[in-house]
Amino acid sequence: MDAAEFRQRGKEMVDTVADYLENIQKRPVFPSVQPGYIRELVPESAPETAESWEDLVGDIERVVMPGVTHWHHPQFHAYFPTANSYAALCADMLSDAIGCIGFSWASSPACTELEMVMMDWLGKMLDLPQEFLFCSGGKGGGVIQGTASEATLVALLAARNQTIHREKEANPALTEADIMARMVGYCSDQAHSSVERAGLLGAVKIVKLSSDKKQSLRGETLAQAVQKDKEKGLIPFFVCGTLGTTPSCAFDNIEELGAVCNLEKIWLHIDAAYAGSAFICPEFRYLLSGVQFADSFNFNPHKWLRVTFDCSAMWIKDSSKLVDAFNVDPLYLKHDNQGKVPDYRHWQIPLGRRFRSLKLWFVLRLHGIKGLQEYIRQHVKLAHEFEALVLADERFEIVAEVVLGLVCFRLKGANDINEQLLQRINQDGRIHLVPSKIGNTYFLRFAVCAPYAESKDVQFAWTVLTELATELLKEKK
Ligand SMILES: Cc1ncc(COP(=O)(O)O)c(C=O)c1O
Repeated sequence: MDAAEFRQRGKEMVDTVADYLENIQKRPVFPSVQPGYIRELVPESAPETAESWEDLVGDIERVVMPGVTHWHHPQFHAYFPTANSYAALCADMLSDAIGCIGFSWASSPACTELEMVMMDWLGKMLDLPQEFLFCSGGKGGGVIQGTASEATLVALLAARNQTIHREKEANPALTEADIMARMVGYCSDQAHSSVERAGLLGAVKIVKLSSDKKQSLRGETLAQAVQKDKEKGLIPFFVCGTLGTTPSCAFDNIEELGAVCNLEKIWLHIDAAYAGSAFICPEFRYLLSGVQFADSFNFNPHKWLRVTFDCSAMWIKDSSKLVDAFNVDPLYLKHDNQGKVPDYRHWQIPLGRRFRSLKLWFVLRLHGIKGLQEYIRQHVKLAHEFEALVLADERFEIVAEVVLGLVCFRLKGANDINEQLLQRINQDGRIHLVPSKIGNTYFLRFAVCAPYAESKDVQFAWTVLTELATELLKEKK
């Protein structure tokens, strides 16, 4: 494809994308294909000679679309949202075209510098403590990671490195292996599986602590675990607090956890993957209370802030701890301005990195803080509308407090009736939900996800749900 053809095909592709998003509600939200379906639709090997654009584009509907789960469909209520906007789509196109790999400042100065400014803009929107921002002139700053899982792993590895140095200084006879074998990190029993996985990848033990009745990890629970582990000769080194847990959008008590961490010199990382976007609204910022104690903080604009995947925003108070942990400096990556600006390769696991800050720049400028706040508020309002419908029907109950855009609910009674209800909902195919469990209680999660979610979508979901629940309950009688 040459530039002339790209001008034409590119414009056609923009139309294809706009048509897809504008008419998404006409498609089934969840596909009905079986595993392996694509093998039967595409040849076994790549074509020897070039094919035509028309043949390729024709295959989008035939091959791809039948197997797509439409995450931006108004009847998609599973997991947490994944963000989308025309602004971010345009920015990604430009990022792909520039196609620079911003591992160091010199590898493409704009890539590093725009990211630094965007992370400061975003940090200010959340009212993060100054120490997390580049503009404070200290050691803090932000970086765009691919995912919240990577951010947790990066934080854990930096904490591990800091602890190994500290222990070796106190006792030079110790080996790294001796120290690592005694290191222990903590999270709540509601934390995302990526925290446990970070422990596995970092070869250190992670202990899941019991959360309270509101699924919140409390300071006292952490303090007791730390005390017990220290008595056993272990070295507590890392805590991951969650703001907006995956099962029920619960909030750990960061004020309490932070006080323990600071006293015990334990690294505190905050995972606010979904909920973090809401902190751009002053009325939700109380949930962030205690962030001043954290060493690192992360949330995913690619979940709820209109920035397409991938864009996971991470801040750290002392970036030298990342650089110390991940610094290898071969000659071919060195440059004259080293040390004056961050070389983001030291802040992450891969070497290569895309120009992702363009997406933030486009979205923040084209939507504005007010536009994004309205977006968050609309989703939260719709979640409360759904909550009211659940509460008004005495057959159902709410399982966890509705704080943001997630409603956890169930039919009163046994788990199996709720399992059957979910099965029927997803077989019916008009709406798509996933379940979760707290302790032994199985429930359904209703997440407000679609970019243009409206009251009528909530009402529609409730109509489908109650129709299927009524049928099920009648059969059971
Ligand atoms: C609280 C929390 N942490 C981490 C993750 C994982 O996010 P990512 O896919 O960005 O690693 C999720 C995903 O939903 C989440 O809810």
